[in-house]
Amino acid sequence: MRNRTVLITGSTGGIGWETARGLAAQGARVILVGRDARRAAAAAELLRQQGTGTAESITADLTRQDGVRELAELVAQRHETLDVLVNNFGYVPPRRQLTVEGVELTFAANVLTPYLLTTLLLPELRAASGRVVNLTGGIPDGPIDPGNLQAERRFLGWTFSQYNHCKTALMAMSYEFARTTEGITVNVAYPGHASTPGSRALPMRAAPWAFRPLIPVIQVLGPLLFKYTAKAARSSIHLASAPELEGVTGKYFDTNAAEAAWPAAVLDDRNRSAVWELCNQVVSAA
Ligand SMILES: NC(=O)c1ccc[n+]([C@@H]2O[C@H](COP(=O)([O-])OP(=O)(O)OC[C@H]3O[C@@H](n4cnc5c(N)ncnc54)[C@H](OP(=O)(O)O)[C@@H]3O)[C@@H](O)[C@H]2O)c1
Repeated sequence: MRNRTVLITGSTGGIGWETARGLAAQGARVILVGRDARRAAAAAELLRQQGTGTAESITADLTRQDGVRELAELVAQRHETLDVLVNNFGYVPPRRQLTVEGVELTFAANVLTPYLLTTLLLPELRAASGRVVNLTGGIPDGPIDPGNLQAERRFLGWTFSQYNHCKTALMAMSYEFARTTEGITVNVAYPGHASTPGSRALPMRAAPWAFRPLIPVIQVLGPLLFKYTAKAARSSIHLASAPELEGVTGKYFDTNAAEAAWPAAVLDDRNRSAVWELCNQVVSAA
C-alpha cells in the first residue's frame, strides 16, 4: 500500500480507526475523517507516530449532503488520485427524523452518504483504478421494502429497524454501483459486532423491541463478548489492500474476510432500482 492514498470515513475511532491503523502500517497515505477537529488531528498525529505511511485529517458532518460535498472538494483539491475509499461511517438515529435536506436520517447517513461521496470522487478514484469498500451492519440479510426506504410507514418493529433496513439498502446500492460504473471496483464488507464508541452509545429506543433486553448487556459486556475492534476491521483492510482482489468488483465479504452470498433482497432488481433511483433523486434535488 506504499504511496497509495486511502480515505476512510468515521476513522478517528472504532472500526474505522483500526482500518486506518492497519492500512497505515502497510505504508498507505491515510486521510482520516471525523466530526471533531481536535480528535481528528490527534488521531492523525498518532498514526504518523505509529505508521510507516503518512496521515492527515479532515472534519465533516457526514449526515449532511453539504458536509459530504465539502469533504469531497477538500480531498479533490489536495489529491489528484484516490486509490481507496472506505465508506466506513454509519449512524443509528434513535427515532425517525429528517436531515436539513429533508431526507430520512438513517437513509441519508448509511446509504446516501456513501453513494454521494463515491459519485463526487469518481474522477480521483478512476484516475487510480480505485477501490471502494462500503460497510454494512445490523442484520444485513433482511428484506428491503421499496415503499418504506425513508421509514415512511415504519421505523421500528418487533424485529425490524430502519438501520438494518438501510444497511441492506446500502448493499443494494453498492451492487448497483459496481454493476453500472466502470474504472473502479465496489465491494461490501460486514465487520461483525465490536465494542466501539457507536455501539456503546447505541440508544435503547433505536433497537427493535425483541432486542431491547440485550442492549444493556451489550453495553456492559460488549468489550468481552464482541470481537476486538481490530478483528472487525479485517474485512475492510482485506478489500482495500489484498493484491488478489485487484479488479474484483460487486462482491460481498463477511466478517472473516471471506466472500459470501448476497442477500436475496439485494439480488431482486426491483429493490435495487428503487434504492438507486431514490439516491439519484435526492442528490439531484439538493
Ligand atoms: N460496532 C459494531 O458492532 C458494528 C457492527 C456491524 C456494522 N458496523 C458498521 O461498521 C461501521 C463502523 O462502526 P463503528 O461502530 O466503528 O462506528 P462508530 O464507533 O460510531 O464510529 C466512530 C467514528 O465515526 C465518526 N463520526 C460520528 N458521527 C459522525 C458524523 N456525523 N460525521 C462524520 N463522522 C462521524 C466519529 O468521529 P467523532 O469522534 O469526531 O465523532 C468516529 O471517527 C459503521 O458503518 C457501522 O454501521 C458496526
